[in-house]
Amino acid sequence: EVVVLDFGGQYSQLIARRVRECGVFSELLPHHVGAAEVRRRKPKGVILSGGPASVYAPDAPPLDPELLNLGVPVLGICYGMQLLARELGGRVESAEVGEYGRSQLTVHEQGTLLRGQPDEQPAWMSHRDTVYSPPEGATALASSTSSPVAAFEDADRGLYGIQYHPEVVHTPYGQQTLMTFLRDVCHCAMDWSAANIAEEQIRLIREQVGDGKVICGLSGGVDSSVAALLVHQAVGDQLTCVYVDHGLMRKNETEQVERTFGEHFQVPLVVVDAKDRFLARLKGVTEPEAKRKAIGGEFIRIFEEEALKLAVGAGAEGVEGADVKTFGEVSAAGGDTGAKFLVQGTLYSDVIESGGGTGAATIKSHHNVGGLPEDMTFELVEPLRALFKDEVRAVGTEIGLPERMVWRQPFPGPGLGIRIVGGEVTEEKLDLLRECDAILQEEVRAAGLYRELWQSFCVLPDVRTVGVQGDERTYGYVVAIRAVTSDDAMTADWARLPYDLLDQIATRMVGEVRQINRVVLDITSKPPGTIEWE
Ligand code: XMP
Repeated sequence: EVVVLDFGGQYSQLIARRVRECGVFSELLPHHVGAAEVRRRKPKGVILSGGPASVYAPDAPPLDPELLNLGVPVLGICYGMQLLARELGGRVESAEVGEYGRSQLTVHEQGTLLRGQPDEQPAWMSHRDTVYSPPEGATALASSTSSPVAAFEDADRGLYGIQYHPEVVHTPYGQQTLMTFLRDVCHCAMDWSAANIAEEQIRLIREQVGDGKVICGLSGGVDSSVAALLVHQAVGDQLTCVYVDHGLMRKNETEQVERTFGEHFQVPLVVVDAKDRFLARLKGVTEPEAKRKAIGGEFIRIFEEEALKLAVGAGAEGVEGADVKTFGEVSAAGGDTGAKFLVQGTLYSDVIESGGGTGAATIKSHHNVGGLPEDMTFELVEPLRALFKDEVRAVGTEIGLPERMVWRQPFPGPGLGIRIVGGEVTEEKLDLLRECDAILQEEVRAAGLYRELWQSFCVLPDVRTVGVQGDERTYGYVVAIRAVTSDDAMTADWARLPYDLLDQIATRMVGEVRQINRVVLDITSKPPGTIEWE
């Protein structure tokens, strides 16, 4: 593996992705983890990312010099390069003019890093601090209009620096540069792929779970489905899948999930109808975090109840009896809780969004089902924790998940609960939202845009406006259309849906869904918005 240390650059995550695309596993770690943590992972190389600071700023994130003693090559990109240069006696200064965007690179000497590349090539830059002379012993390889040293290498010491961003598509030889670094400098095996991710995860799951029983919260989405399949391939009938119908699902979703699951999985599926419980729990709750916690908490209680039913000698009636101990009590007393493990389809982007790769598992899983309760005692099994969504899709395809499931748009664990905003979640609003959402999905699919969009859905604010329909005054709900494109949900752009399609969707919504008399379009990207409204 190769460790990418994140110094706060906009493209840090992209570096990790590009490395993986070369067939090398890579992990993004916050810069402050220190050399010991990096060494523990036995990497074949280290990449220092770019970052917004000037290396001379008093609070600039520093370089742990021990990183240079790990015995593996180090590649600094942008800020990372400047850190290296400064640490090793090169000259770094703030330039009069910053260099932002497309720039022209002139290669004076190819060295190892730029071997086989043209003398002149475009490269994407974003910096003001500039390296004026390379570290002692290093060779300057390239320059650009504003960067006297745009790349350097010291092959003997295994130190490499590039000022431009090889990870962005606007640097056409960037991927080749990364490839050369990984293959010819770090001597990585370049054999990381969806197939061996699956194999490796199956081995790790077996190790973690032993002969214990496992519960998987299945939502029908690609993440939990892939996670369930991996666990099933690892431990077979030790696994029970539980689908919770919290009443916050989309139109006909429960039936669809049951059908697809029955057709493609040989795993026992328990479907829990918990609509009333969730609605009761959500009564009067409007604050988004409180809502997420209420939903996440209820989820876990249901998983616990289902787990207890798997305990040896637990007749279903016995468990449901009023005086029976809770999962937490049984667990604390060291008793048989049925299943001790809970499978989650947690992704790498979730891990990163909640504060970096070294954070505790719980932070991330909070996000995943929308707020796990503090007193949860399940041990989590998260086989997708290191993967990006597109990699999960590749694994899904590899292990035989049907295409329709692999390409399902993401749907959040708290479901429509976080798409009814500003007011209480009620049955009536859920029905309205479900109908609007069904129209949107149908039209987006008919237009052939379903796969292109990361997500497309409706939001129902607690707002009513005046309209006129059939010569009558109406006072109805507004529904918002949200459609975004994205690679991994970390950033997203609002989708430019064709006007005719929008018109068709809006006309159908106000015509077919009583109480809807206005349709608006959300044109916010992420950032500054998030994809969901709550
Ligand atoms: P945001 O709204 O943070 O969402 O831009 C990023 C992606 O995550 C999904 N999402 C969730 N998925 N449980 C989930 O399983 C959740 O609590 C949750 N919240 C947001 C969201 O739909 C988008 O794809």
